[in-house]
Amino acid sequence: MTVPIAIIGTGIAGLSAAHALQTAGHTVHLFDKSRGSGGRMSSKRSEAGNLDMGAQYFTARDRRFVEEVQRWQAKGWASEWEPHLYNHKHGQLTPSPDEQTRWVGSPRMSAITRGLLGKSHVTFSCRITDLIKGEAHWHLQDADGQDHGPFSHVIIATPAPQATALLAVAPKLASMVASVKMDPTWALALAFETPLATKMDGCFVQDSPLDWLARNSSKPGRDNQPDTWVLHATSAWSRQNLDLPKEAVIEQLHGAFAELMHFPTPAPIFTLAHRWLYARPATAHEWGALADSDLGLYACGDWCLSGRVEGAWLSGQDAARKLLEHLE
Ligand code: FAD
Ligand code: NAI
Repeated sequence: MTVPIAIIGTGIAGLSAAHALQTAGHTVHLFDKSRGSGGRMSSKRSEAGNLDMGAQYFTARDRRFVEEVQRWQAKGWASEWEPHLYNHKHGQLTPSPDEQTRWVGSPRMSAITRGLLGKSHVTFSCRITDLIKGEAHWHLQDADGQDHGPFSHVIIATPAPQATALLAVAPKLASMVASVKMDPTWALALAFETPLATKMDGCFVQDSPLDWLARNSSKPGRDNQPDTWVLHATSAWSRQNLDLPKEAVIEQLHGAFAELMHFPTPAPIFTLAHRWLYARPATAHEWGALADSDLGLYACGDWCLSGRVEGAWLSGQDAARKLLEHLE
């Protein structure tokens, strides 16, 4: 019987590694504490439709990622989003068009990780708390005290602070990962009965508690929902208001939105606030992925590279590559 490889995290980094290992003929078993895949690239089902509360869109600059995104497009998991972009600076809203290609999952962001997951062996709602290395194999313990294993190798594909907690078995890796700080982001979704009187589909914001606005319903495949918007607060505002009750977050961020729109916005018919505790790495690294190959332990995620979807995917590829190289 072949001993599978364990992957902790079904965000884009974990699924990127899983896909590369499966393509090379290996069996993987994925774990995630959430009820579904996607992590920060997931979407929330709501009465206002599917809302992308985390990653809004992604760009592809590395040739390998460009090819991968073309594969996703061919499968129908990803589409190009061509937003009317604006910029908000010094209280002024101005159109800010550009030539950049921007991608989204279709009909929702989570379609990509759902597609990548395919029929892979996965255990959801399972928070891994401990990694145990035996003579030859690994075992994982979850928060309910249950044991999972044996596994030949383990790939940790979680945000850095959550990876640090799992790396007690590899103190050198643990201290590197512990040096990565991740900033929070408060996200707010709003829905309006009557579409807002603006052409804007996306806006980069300066000088406000907000740093990004998106008309969720302008993305491909989301036209069966009311006029929905997703707003992101800056890291600084999110850190300062980390423990603010959701009602207060909704009130303050909706207020900031109404102020910068420069026209009277009606009361929303729907609101939803979500706090991402580990939204983005405070600094970029060029680690690719981290490895203790003798132990058979690897760590990957956006925090190893650029803090974007592309960086997370590339990091997952690098973890798989390092693991496969060590097997040769
Ligand atoms: P994650 O997606 O965080 O996946 C990690 C997974 O591990 C999660 O599913 C989590 O549940 C699971 N997990 C954690 N701990 C455990 C444990 N102990 N046991 C089991 N499972 C565990 N990027 C862009 O390119 N463009 C954007 O527009 C953009 N906007 C963003 C906006 C916001 C608000 C946020 C939060 C992120 C945004 N990003 C954006 C960044 C992008 O979402 C991330 O870079 C990328 O999705 C990270 O993928 P990942 O696989 O490294 O981590
Ligand atoms: P990108 O190339 O579209 O944007 C990169 C940055 O360039 C933007 O943040 C913006 O400041 C600027 N920019 C780009 N086009 C612009 C335009 N037309 N007008 C004015 N400014 C423009 O995308 P990329 O490089 O893939 O970045 C992804 C985005 O995801 C970034 O905006 C980043 O801030 C955001 N992000 C947000 C996170 C969060 O937690 N809120 C976490 C990770 C990424």
